[in-house]
Amino acid sequence: MTGRYKVISKRNAQNKRILMRVDFNVPMKDGKISDDTRIKRVIPGIKSLVDCSKQIVLVTHLGRPKGNVDKTLSSQPLQEYLAEALSTRVHFIPHIEDPSQILEVINSYEKICLLENCRFYAGEEKNDLGLARAYASLVDIYVNDAFSCSHRSHASIQAITELLPSYAGPVLAAELKALSDALESPKRPVAAFVGGAKISTKLSVLENLITKVDKLLLAGAMANTFLAAKQVPIAKSLHEPELTPKAKMILELAERQGCDVVLPIDGVVSTKLENGGSFNTRLNGTLEDNEMILDIGPASVALFKEHISDCKSLLWNGPAGAFEIAPYDEASKSLGEFIGMRTRNGKLVSVAGGGDTVAAVNLAGVAEELTYVSLAGGAFLEWIEGKSLPGIEALLSPD
Ligand code: 3PG
Repeated sequence: MTGRYKVISKRNAQNKRILMRVDFNVPMKDGKISDDTRIKRVIPGIKSLVDCSKQIVLVTHLGRPKGNVDKTLSSQPLQEYLAEALSTRVHFIPHIEDPSQILEVINSYEKICLLENCRFYAGEEKNDLGLARAYASLVDIYVNDAFSCSHRSHASIQAITELLPSYAGPVLAAELKALSDALESPKRPVAAFVGGAKISTKLSVLENLITKVDKLLLAGAMANTFLAAKQVPIAKSLHEPELTPKAKMILELAERQGCDVVLPIDGVVSTKLENGGSFNTRLNGTLEDNEMILDIGPASVALFKEHISDCKSLLWNGPAGAFEIAPYDEASKSLGEFIGMRTRNGKLVSVAGGGDTVAAVNLAGVAEELTYVSLAGGAFLEWIEGKSLPGIEALLSPD
């Protein structure tokens, strides 16, 4: 990332109408929000701008309606939640066939408005300048407070920045700082702890990480492909045999880069992934033919903790095992608690994010202890892949 971005302040928001892109893409059940973590995080930032600004127009997507109106994905159920959280009235602007007509509707309202799901408009995902113009006609300035959507070249994220003075919101700025502290200019030694099911979805992530970190701790079923690449027998364990050459290449590259790749040395194994089934702990190479590794074992957890203790910074992505089913959640819990404890004691800068990671962090009960927990999925992964994110690039002005 080169260049600088401006962070919204009370001064530059003074008396302005603001279009604020937020990510309220939250899980809903029967029209009710089932997890409001993402919304809660941006509320203080919105509150801090209410009094000084003239109007705040919130825009979010919800799900993937692909340019069609899908009532089950309406943002309207968020209106009541926001009114309560912000202690003020929130006006909902329904879908209007011609988005340029929104202006007439919005002008009659004050303070906080919430637009209908922006992905009901076909122009949103096409990064259409026409739709961005309709948004821009409503306001004076634009704020992106949705890091988790910033990997999308969409009208409310990228095209809009061509039309309005554009700023990073407080949450986006905090996210970028945390990510940079973990990977761009970390206190060394720095480790990445990466788990999850498949290496196919994280190949580029691993390729980038080995150039940045001193240690790469691999867990989850993805570690099995690396064990197979090292000819460690893994019996029926989930792995991607077609990717063993790629895994070998990553191990070789890591060695050349001076990155220490640490693999599990034991596993919690069973013949089936099921609740209440029998299980065993086995050292590498001692699995029965019909067994599979479902979590990293206690010796691996101890080994990983030793490596983490050597480090001053840590990036965590993905669970250590099949953590939805006990007892295969033990390693994620134990390592999460350890990372939380080291952070609390001021020994570690820890940043977690992407995919199932937040669930693993919550399982360990350490969301409040880590230095930063990113609520982004795809955007977090693209960032740790080293890709530039269009929504962030669009906010940068040259140094
Ligand atoms: C997310 O949930 O990761 C963001 O809201 C982005 O959603 P998308 O993958 O549908 O663009």
